[in-house]
Amino acid sequence: MAHVSDLISTDIEQYLKAHENKGLLRFITCGSVDDGKSTLIGRLLYESKMLFEDQLSAIEADSKKYGTQGDEIDFALLVDGLAAEREQGITIDVAYRFFSTDQRKYIVADTPGHEQYTRNMVTGASTADAAILMVDARKGILIQTRRHSYLMSLIGIRNIVVAINKMDLVDYSEAVFNRIREEYRAFARQIGFEDVTFIPMSAFKGDNITTLSERMPWYQGTALMPHLEAVELDDERLQRSAFRMPVQWVNRPNLDFRGFAGSIASGVIRPGDAIRVQPSGKTSTVARIVTHDGDLEQAVAGQSITLTLADEVDISRGDVISRIDAPAETADQFEASLVWMHEEALLPGRRYLMKIGTNTVTAQVSEIKYQVNVNTLEHLAAKQLELNAIGVCNLSLDRAIAFDAYADNQDTGGFILIDRLTNNTVGAGMLRFALRRSQNIHMQHVDVDKAARAQAKSQKACVLWFTGLSGSGKSTIANLVEKKLHARGQHTYLLDGDNVRHGLNRDLGFTDADRVENIRRVGEVAKLMVDAGLIVLSAFISPFCSERSMARDLVADGEFLEIFVDTPLSVAEERDPKGLYKKARRGELKNFTGIDSAYEVPEAAEIRIDTTVLDADAAAERIIGELIECGILQN
Ligand code: ADX
Repeated sequence: MAHVSDLISTDIEQYLKAHENKGLLRFITCGSVDDGKSTLIGRLLYESKMLFEDQLSAIEADSKKYGTQGDEIDFALLVDGLAAEREQGITIDVAYRFFSTDQRKYIVADTPGHEQYTRNMVTGASTADAAILMVDARKGILIQTRRHSYLMSLIGIRNIVVAINKMDLVDYSEAVFNRIREEYRAFARQIGFEDVTFIPMSAFKGDNITTLSERMPWYQGTALMPHLEAVELDDERLQRSAFRMPVQWVNRPNLDFRGFAGSIASGVIRPGDAIRVQPSGKTSTVARIVTHDGDLEQAVAGQSITLTLADEVDISRGDVISRIDAPAETADQFEASLVWMHEEALLPGRRYLMKIGTNTVTAQVSEIKYQVNVNTLEHLAAKQLELNAIGVCNLSLDRAIAFDAYADNQDTGGFILIDRLTNNTVGAGMLRFALRRSQNIHMQHVDVDKAARAQAKSQKACVLWFTGLSGSGKSTIANLVEKKLHARGQHTYLLDGDNVRHGLNRDLGFTDADRVENIRRVGEVAKLMVDAGLIVLSAFISPFCSERSMARDLVADGEFLEIFVDTPLSVAEERDPKGLYKKARRGELKNFTGIDSAYEVPEAAEIRIDTTVLDADAAAERIIGELIECGILQN
């Protein structure tokens, strides 16, 4: 391996030590397929002599085969490692490369530039200290330059280098450079970029990469590498911010020791400092800072430590420890920017798991305020966010969390959303601010409660949730069950899909997003009715597991019985009581469940009714029997 340091062969220990103490700069390169991004990375690796020699000879051979650069070495081939990419001439996934100089270690995230890879770019950039935006000097600022810039501003990257590349192809013209710089500056102001560095270069020829090029004497700045060597690392900046430590786990090996372990997100802490635990708000003082290598007198951002406190304070995973003089905020409703990363669209009202710092909570998007057209920065109305869409949303959590605005602290203000059923990461977001209304609305205590109301009716309140295809028999069976309950003197209410859609849910149609909202509202209404002490019957297709489980979680354990009215599609279609299946088959009715809209079969329904075996009355009797069995009804 050819390397800049002779220490590797003479004193490997010394070499490793020098490496260990170097700062690490993470940066991302953005640009389109042929702006020269891969060539630049190849060049940086080559200049820092981090190429294996056998890799070098492989590229030389490949350059002849696939290269676009005649007989010279095509550095892009080194970087565009995947054969598929190579043949198509594009970069698909995020590739991370490592190299080092005498001053610093570097990790480069090389991301594909197309709009359909927005999520890859966001992933690659999420931890970057700096971004290099590649611009082809011949083409100037393109729509995708703007899009990449917007993404970098969204992610909060502070150091932006606009690399005006391929200067060799415009005769190293100062006028071209100045024109592109002025155009970009005007745009940068719009998205709030303050600190942008412009470097004219030729990655291919090596101009202004490691040293200033003689071919551009008019350029007064620094070459790219020296610039990167001097960029302030996020770790250094974070040490100046307010102290935050999200608690990862509570370390309690024996009764005498209780420590709170975590990695410091920002700031500095010392024994004796007064702290506040959030969201509870409890206060104490740091007793010790414990690490594997003994106690510390001070710990800073990036370090993993265990704090012990002077008082017994109740702290659990997900809490944030702040210094008392500059605490985080706490709230349960926010405005946030959101990048959607999954093929299945974001649906407002659906519950997702939200991971923020070490905390995991349940979150719903209560409203999409707008989607951003990433090419023009226009705001668009949106009912859902598709893969790679970026929107500004209101978020509502199941409990309050400690947080900072993402712009102030990426660790305590950045989050991901996870699908509860599949565990896939489906979105990434940045908290902007807490909604003030969440701070001004409190739960009011009432003395007459659910138990008292149910008792006055001499019954146990519950929800009988009927689900199944259109025409499966839900409404018919639910109607019979209600009649039988009524005859037994029970207090009931039947919420029926078609009926509710005439009133409360008149504004909703049958898109996935509207069905989620339909069931969210009905779930909330059912919850209120259970609170009123009623036996609630609900008959809705409710095609998605996610919302049925949401409705279940709104009431107490044992109060929700899911009744799957299991009628095969062919049978429901044969019955077709409202002629809707025929309409759907003729293409006159879109998004019809079972035809061109999904029905997710319940996997753990309390009661399954096979309507090909039982008629409606027998089904209703069977349900009454089950209610007696589980103690909701008396015999
Ligand atoms: S749900 O999917 O949102 O739960 P809901 O139970 O409220 O549906 O409404 C279903 C009823 O609306 C059906 O029984 C049918 O009469 C009618 N309907 C009209 N259009 C559709 C459609 N595209 N898909 C399903 N049902 C529809």
